[in-house]
Amino acid sequence: MDTLRAVLVGCGSMSRAWLRAAAATEGLSIAGLVDIVEDAARARKDEFALADAHTGDDLEAMLVATRPDIVFDVTVPEAHAQTTLTALRHGCHVLGEKPMAASMDDARRMVEAAQRAGRLYAVVQNRRYTAPIRRVREFLRRGAIGPLTTVNCDFYIGAHFGGFRDHMSHVLLLDMAIHTFDQARFLTGADTVRVAFCKEWNPHGSWYERDASAIAVFELSNSAIFTYRGSWCAEGLNTSWEGEWRFIGANGSATWDGGNGFRAQTPDESSGFIRKQRELPLPELDTTGLSEGHASLIRQFVRCVREGGTPETVCTDNIKSLAMVFGAIEAAERGQPVNIRI
Ligand SMILES: NC(=O)c1ccc[n+]([C@@H]2O[C@H](COP(=O)([O-])OP(=O)(O)OC[C@H]3O[C@@H](n4cnc5c(N)ncnc54)[C@H](O)[C@@H]3O)[C@@H](O)[C@H]2O)c1
Repeated sequence: MDTLRAVLVGCGSMSRAWLRAAAATEGLSIAGLVDIVEDAARARKDEFALADAHTGDDLEAMLVATRPDIVFDVTVPEAHAQTTLTALRHGCHVLGEKPMAASMDDARRMVEAAQRAGRLYAVVQNRRYTAPIRRVREFLRRGAIGPLTTVNCDFYIGAHFGGFRDHMSHVLLLDMAIHTFDQARFLTGADTVRVAFCKEWNPHGSWYERDASAIAVFELSNSAIFTYRGSWCAEGLNTSWEGEWRFIGANGSATWDGGNGFRAQTPDESSGFIRKQRELPLPELDTTGLSEGHASLIRQFVRCVREGGTPETVCTDNIKSLAMVFGAIEAAERGQPVNIRI
């Protein structure tokens, strides 16, 4: 098997998860590490004992020097467009961190550039790659509670990051809810057609500069309604990072806590005021290779580069999740419903 060579850009906290996953991926080597703060790249080189990896602070120069097959973009959201466009111009395939871009215009340019270059560009949505979400999706897909009419998700975590998020606009929607909105598309198999309502605010006492809380209501292509309530500035009684979900179908309901807590019920009798309910089990499912977050995504991406095929979170699909984020932001700013445009 030929070894594929990758350059990783952005050597901050998240790069550790990428380098751990890359080290566990057969047939992949790290040819270079880039960060605008070159010491950060050198620190990761030492930490992961990447003796043969080049380090630098200039992606363009690194690509000329090392001619890699793949670029891993782990920079801050504002730098994703520039990093991806540079990598594609040099003929590299790109796997990048979420959110795809800091604007829809940038995201459209990135999709176009990938298509023009004939290279893969996919986005990491690691919260799709857990065993529980795969099983819940399968449960919904099999239709045991009938067609979905309503999906609710709550996300409440008091997260004290420091760093770029403290000053970022739309921090909850753009940096976190992108995961939840992508999970909603993944779980329901539906896309969003309209943001009926969105309110973003910064709660009293927030340790963020702005936009740490939001509530949004989406209309989906299967006619279901998806509601989202979230905050990154909520101390106590935290939900899981995967969110707490309720699914209501025409013939029953299910709740999921984002981990192993799942319950579902369907009526066990056909008459009566409040009908007796029967519990429904979560189906068993072989999730081998699809349940290890970043490691699963990186392996899937490398396999597609090597053998052909399309990663599940390819940019042409992921832009639909990003459009939910920017649709919600626009609805909040205008105080009006917004139709989704890709
Ligand atoms: N998938 C997940 O679960 C998850 C979790 C955390 C963060 N993230 C994402 O990972 C990305 C990085 O987040 P982080 O927490 O590591 O941030 P961070 O601030 O710790 O690290 C970002 C690094 O990128 C570098 N950088 C910035 N602009 C650059 C540029 N133009 N070229 C090269 N390097 C540049 C910075 O110097 C810094 O070292 C973000 O997009 C974030 O949303 C994803």
